[in-house]
Amino acid sequence: MTTVISVENRKGGVGKTTTAVTLAVRTAQKIAPEKVLLICVDPQGDAARALGLDPGGRCLSQLLREEASYGDVIMSADLAANGGPSRPNLYYLPASNRLFAALTTIQEDVVAMREIANKMTPQERKRKGLDEIDDLTARVLNILQPLKSTKNGPKYIFIDCPPSLGPMQMAIHKFADYAIVPVEPGDQDLAMTVQHTTEIAEDLKHGAKMKLLAVLPTNVQPQLNLHTAMLSQIRKVYEPQRALVTYIPRRTAIQQGPSLGGLVIFDHEPDSDAAKAYDVLSERVLAVGGR
Ligand SMILES: Nc1ncnc2c1ncn2[C@@H]1O[C@H](COP(=O)(O)OP(=O)(O)OP(=O)(O)O)[C@@H](O)[C@H]1O
Ligand SMILES: [Mg+2]
Repeated sequence: MTTVISVENRKGGVGKTTTAVTLAVRTAQKIAPEKVLLICVDPQGDAARALGLDPGGRCLSQLLREEASYGDVIMSADLAANGGPSRPNLYYLPASNRLFAALTTIQEDVVAMREIANKMTPQERKRKGLDEIDDLTARVLNILQPLKSTKNGPKYIFIDCPPSLGPMQMAIHKFADYAIVPVEPGDQDLAMTVQHTTEIAEDLKHGAKMKLLAVLPTNVQPQLNLHTAMLSQIRKVYEPQRALVTYIPRRTAIQQGPSLGGLVIFDHEPDSDAAKAYDVLSERVLAVGGR
């Protein structure tokens, strides 16, 4: 069985990409030779750089437009051949700025089909197969679901989300089993994070299945009073929901990782406090999805 974990928060720059990439790499190390897939649904495509990969024009939009097969778009994230870290069981499905154009086309197609169907009698609709028109959520899910059910497919799928999932939100919240929500210690960040986790709970009432696994304070400087104060506020809100697993301290090495050719903290500072904290989080992931 595949476990899908979406890393998301409507607040930008809080460590979503860093967390998705670091967890994907760590999980792949721990469950080898079973596979891990990281899906990018962010048109910024930052996860590619964080993994040291060049997607070379590959984009999830090609799957949504049915222009390419899964094998054409999914790439290996193994850097061993170029002298980088060995990640033989880690795979990456990239996104680019073509993603939203593809979603807009699908949305327009759904509207056009509905307009045509509305002009027909129920019998005509049935005859032409237009009595049930898939909405955008269903169409995105149709593309994503096979990634879970493929033989020899990934045991874990991580999703790196943009600040706004826009029209993909319900599809992602139906596709994913769990959410990890990174948050930086700031007033605005906590308010937006509470909004975000409230929305996850709302979607759960409306047909989604994704549950909150962890709220993850990132980029934390425990020596700052502001950060310890914010941490205790985050604790107050999320400890009762058992969503606070650990926090990630600020570490320059994390920031440098992408420019060093796609290193994560486990590659160049495996004994640091930040690596240990990400390891604690990865154990939480393995606790829900199995090894
Ligand atoms: N623990 C940390 N220590 C130091 N720097 C960090 C840490 N976590 C994240 N960063 C840095 O903070 C910046 C933002 O992180 P990241 O890109 O992961 O955020 P994001 O939430 O994905 O952003 P966006 O909303 O734009 O997608 C990056 O430069 C990253 O290297
Ligand atoms: Mg990002």
